[in-house]
Amino acid sequence: MKRIPLCEPDISALEINYVTRAVKNREISSGASWVKKFEKTFAQKFGVKYAVSTNSGGSALFLALKALGIKEGDEVIVPTFTMFATAAAVTNCGAKPVFVDCKKNNPNIDPAKIAGKITKRTKAILIAHLYGIPCEMEEIMGTAKKHSLPVIEDVAEAHGAKMNGKLCGTFGKISCFSFYASKTMTSGEGGMIITNEKKLAEIANRLKQYDINPKKPYIHELVSWNMRMSGLEAALGLAQLERMLELIEKRNRVSKNYEKSLKLKGIEFFQVPKNVGTSNWLFTILTKKRDALSEFLLKNGVETKKVFVPMHKLKPYLQKGNFKNAEDLSVRGISLPSATLLGKKDQDYVVSKIKEFYASE
Ligand SMILES: Cc1ncc(COP(=O)(O)O)c(C=O)c1O
Repeated sequence: MKRIPLCEPDISALEINYVTRAVKNREISSGASWVKKFEKTFAQKFGVKYAVSTNSGGSALFLALKALGIKEGDEVIVPTFTMFATAAAVTNCGAKPVFVDCKKNNPNIDPAKIAGKITKRTKAILIAHLYGIPCEMEEIMGTAKKHSLPVIEDVAEAHGAKMNGKLCGTFGKISCFSFYASKTMTSGEGGMIITNEKKLAEIANRLKQYDINPKKPYIHELVSWNMRMSGLEAALGLAQLERMLELIEKRNRVSKNYEKSLKLKGIEFFQVPKNVGTSNWLFTILTKKRDALSEFLLKNGVETKKVFVPMHKLKPYLQKGNFKNAEDLSVRGISLPSATLLGKKDQDYVVSKIKEFYASE
């Protein structure tokens, strides 16, 4: 039977070349020059001063919060509709995530609802650009400025997306990326922190590698972790970074095709704010028949993924509150196969199966 995966990494000869060179030259640990090169190129591409690689996007978020000094007793504003790692990073610092709803039919945090959640314990605003759609950064930065709070951007799902021509990840004080295999560019596992503040980059760097100081061997001053990226991952990541525009274009082509072909009664798309350059991650539709559609597609060999369960519905964070937009999205959202490698024929097959489903309903 036909099998169309949700998302598979797009590995070209360039990635194979870089990784092979790393292995052949035994440049495999975090000490490899590939890591420094990946960080330097990443910082250049994003036009920032510092880039610190990590072993995952979750680690990047955790280290960014630690670098900002987030600790027990603090509160951090977080979207309730996001991937678990965003909220868990706050909890892992001993602080409390304070959840904010998203907008109607838009996965991102509702900027108008942030101010009402700020207390005297609030120490930061952590936002996530989800499914390749940028958050409304002007409003968010305005609120942050008014309350003198740093903004952390979670850019795991929006590599290369732009708001008013400015890249996501370059608005806040510090930003974090994930390079997990489903992401637009991947290093297998891995993450990156970017910032223009030397002090933040320095602390994140010390915390991610047991605060090892080559000038003072075995004198560790900060309680710290091993959250380093390996040379192999960096070699893979660097090749993907060099192909980033191509990878974004391919994903956007997939999403444009879906948008054109799925103008059906009963299907809605995420609403995208004005002046954005999206960088589609997983193309997602909203439908009341989500669960039945997902089952039907699976029976026909098409892998899909239901969207996030909001944080306030999960065991570690269970709470009541007005999060109606997130709750609505979480029962209607379903992501379709979105790999850059998805061929036109396969995408047409997915579309035809969705049309067949709606015709039989
Ligand atoms: C929005 C968001 N934040 C953080 C993460 C965590 O990244 P990682 O899986 O690399 O730890 C992910 C991805 O999985 C994500 O989608």
